[in-house]
Amino acid sequence: MDGEKIKVGAALLGVGVVGGGTYKIITEQREKIKKIYGVDLTVRHILERDKSKTDALGVDPSIVSTDIENVLNDDGIQVVAEFFGGTEPAKTFLIKCLMKGKSVVTSNKELVCKHFAELEDAARIGGGGLYFEASCVGGVPIVRTLTDAMQANDIREIKGIINGTTNYILSRMANDGTDYADALKTAQKLGYAEADPTADTEGYDAAYKLSILSSLAYNKRVPIDKIFREGINNVAAEDINFGKEFGMTLKLLGISKSIGGKIEARVHPAFIGDNHPLASVKGSFNAVYLKGNNVGDIMLYGRGAGDLPTGSAIVSDMVFASVNTRHRRYPFINETVSDGDFISNFSSKYYIRMKVTDKAGTLSKISGIFGRFGVSITTVLQKPPTDESGIVSIIFITHITNENAISEAVKAIKDLESVAEISNVIRVEE
Ligand code: HSE
Repeated sequence: MDGEKIKVGAALLGVGVVGGGTYKIITEQREKIKKIYGVDLTVRHILERDKSKTDALGVDPSIVSTDIENVLNDDGIQVVAEFFGGTEPAKTFLIKCLMKGKSVVTSNKELVCKHFAELEDAARIGGGGLYFEASCVGGVPIVRTLTDAMQANDIREIKGIINGTTNYILSRMANDGTDYADALKTAQKLGYAEADPTADTEGYDAAYKLSILSSLAYNKRVPIDKIFREGINNVAAEDINFGKEFGMTLKLLGISKSIGGKIEARVHPAFIGDNHPLASVKGSFNAVYLKGNNVGDIMLYGRGAGDLPTGSAIVSDMVFASVNTRHRRYPFINETVSDGDFISNFSSKYYIRMKVTDKAGTLSKISGIFGRFGVSITTVLQKPPTDESGIVSIIFITHITNENAISEAVKAIKDLESVAEISNVIRVEE
């Protein structure tokens, strides 16, 4: 780019994994960003308690402190990138920065999901921008795709593998035949899963991201409490193996749809056909599949976490925040929504695995109950007994039905004397 370069001072709130990656990228890409985008981006201040982290990055100690006032009161800082995670003190600090007219860049999905409206209000008052590409799917530019590339479309559907930890665990179970507990332990050993893995394994992390992405896709607030959520902790190696027999792969999916003006949003384990593009997304990789009414299907694939992939999204937002003369606003985020705007009794096919007594009449009683609740079966598979107990596993796959019908049918089947247990119910996506 010819002509004047804009000098932009940045503050980094924390230099842990992603903050550190961001610092490295800013240093490494400075000349390129100056030349191509006309922005001379430098780090003017870092908030960090742990001196070993700033020392490891070779940061000049004179720009490091633990006092947010040093950021707020420095007019040379126009962009603040936050890496604290969690809602506090991130929210208080960022609102102060926004009210001062600074732009904010964050990878904090919980904060954006829960407090989008307050941050947006502060940005509007201060005049700065609110940028959060890194909050959803790390280095994959899904936010920018939704906000800056889909103007000509009504988005009909998002379907994504938007949590790397669970994808790693499920891939490991599928490849090695290990059970959930072992795969989780390996994921923790390799640093993919936290010591307390519940945010990932119970689907909260994916639900935060789905809330943000769905709000942007449908221009309507999709609060986390309107997202159905189920984690992967009940998935057994057996389910994954039976899925293979049916040509299906098990993934934790974030799915949302716009149907007749209502939104359906859900995070849960789901089988997809082995030939679906998402089935080939393995290990800690993420991917998001979008359907637009004009563009058709799009899939974005990449790293959803990590210092440099997420730092890549952060630095991209910093450059955007610096060059944009009109920051994007999200007026819909303040609109009131009610239960009537969302679909809770959603439709799906289902895989149901149960243990039953292997005797005449069992199958017909079960089929009768499915029929009573309008659930039509496409496939039944009975496995040979594995011991002398007379108990065998049966797997049913249904046609498309809905949550209410399945839960009523399963409740009634569970009460049958010949049914020892309902081992699992897993949705099957088209
Ligand atoms: N813990 C997340 C994951 C990365 O496993 O994908 C940050 O959201």
